[in-house]
Amino acid sequence: MAFELKINNKLSKEEKYNLLLPQINALIEDEKNFIANIANITSVLKYTFDNLLWVGFYFTDRNNPDELVLGPFQGRVACTRIAVGKGVCGTSAKKRETIIVDDVDKFPGHIVCDSLSKSEIVVPIIKNNTVSGVLDIDSDVLNNFDETDKIHLEKLINNILHLF
Ligand code: SME
Repeated sequence: MAFELKINNKLSKEEKYNLLLPQINALIEDEKNFIANIANITSVLKYTFDNLLWVGFYFTDRNNPDELVLGPFQGRVACTRIAVGKGVCGTSAKKRETIIVDDVDKFPGHIVCDSLSKSEIVVPIIKNNTVSGVLDIDSDVLNNFDETDKIHLEKLINNILHLF
């Protein structure tokens, strides 16, 4: 069955998030496969919002919890492993908090995967008090992410925690 997102591109970011979250729930409700659901979520995000360069997940490596390993994503080839505590992703995982970076060049230790990336948001995935991974979104414009993204992406992660 084809799934068609019903989101008008002229809507505000907040309006898009409000329409998107229930549609993501509908998209994943009949499918039990973890990778399939996570992969579709990256696509939905990438193609709903403007100015996004890269949308993807890093998961805590089961064999080495001090490392994040690349999961499904939309965008150019990315680094496969990030140490917890390093880069924006590793810092978010270590601090267990969402990080908004207005200008990646000003974030100490930012890991460059795509030189076109200008700003970034990383949301940690915390289940049963353990960091399962992070959702990482990069933009090719400065200051692309704000409190609206933080609130709604945290809500999105909360809504899909049962997948992890
Ligand atoms: N910029 C990230 C690395 C991952 S890529 O952006 C996909 C970081 O500093 O953790």
